[in-house]
Amino acid sequence: MYAAFTLFFFMCLTASSHADHHQPCHSPNMTGILSVMSLKGEMKAYGAFTYDSMGKKLRFRSNESSPTNASHSMDLLMFFEEGIFYEIESKNQSCVKKTLHCSMHPLDIPDDATFSSNVHSGSASIEGEGLQLNVWTGSMPDKKGHYSMYVTKGCLPTSTFYFTESTSFFFSIMEIENEIKDPDLLAVPHFCVGQPVEETPEGTVNSFLNEFV
Ligand SMILES: *[C@@H]1O[C@H](CO)[C@@H](O)[C@H](O)[C@H]1NC(C)=O
Ligand SMILES: *[C@@H]1O[C@H](CO)[C@@H](O)[C@H](O)[C@H]1NC(C)=O
Ligand SMILES: *[C@@H]1O[C@H](CO)[C@@H](O)[C@H](O)[C@H]1NC(C)=O
Ligand SMILES: *[C@@H]1O[C@H](CO)[C@@H](O)[C@H](O)[C@H]1NC(C)=O
Repeated sequence: MYAAFTLFFFMCLTASSHADHHQPCHSPNMTGILSVMSLKGEMKAYGAFTYDSMGKKLRFRSNESSPTNASHSMDLLMFFEEGIFYEIESKNQSCVKKTLHCSMHPLDIPDDATFSSNVHSGSASIEGEGLQLNVWTGSMPDKKGHYSMYVTKGCLPTSTFYFTESTSFFFSIMEIENEIKDPDLLAVPHFCVGQPVEETPEGTVNSFLNEFV
């Protein structure tokens, strides 16, 4: 289901980045689990992701067999550098190729993010019961909202919040492994090769976030 309601789109124009003394880190290649929840408490999606940090590619497949009652079933392959993405339907071997208007996503800190603080989750004094996190914040590209990202010292994302006037989301990232376990997941499926880019209706902004609206 890729229903989208124009009213609630996150506006997403290209953000201007400026040089700063505190440069955000960039997450490494990763495999893990991503859960997406609206801050009204609706579980939007839950599933496995594969992320190529250098190639800026992301595959996310929500898992319908998980017991979370996620409202969105999806399989996305995003190419942030090329500015395109695929909505994949493996069941009937179909796919839709679209232009990506915004490269913001919850696994990587935008270059123009601001360092906010260092927090110690859990306990700082009990061995093995704490996690030191760096918090990075910034505005949404249209300035009508902001985000907050919590990453480990080694730049593994743990959670990201997006707050906007119309809707807010919480992305939780779990069970990260520091490698791409199945590189094939980042390749365009054979049944999508040669697919034309679908026209985007006027006023629609395609982004990873907007897939969950
Ligand atoms: C990340 O994965 C890509 C694609 O498999 C690979 O080309 C690159 O060397 C990997 N980077 C690291 C640091 O392992
Ligand atoms: C979905 O979840 C089930 C149970 O946790 C797991 O066995 C399966 O591998 C998962 N599938 C995908 C595509 O992540
Ligand atoms: C899942 O959704 C069904 C139907 O809406 C509901 O009856 C059930 O309690 C939900 N389960 C969980 C774990 O939220
Ligand atoms: C494949 O399935 C999806 C979702 O059920 C549907 O929207 C789409 O039209 C189907 N495509 C083809 C080519 O049958």
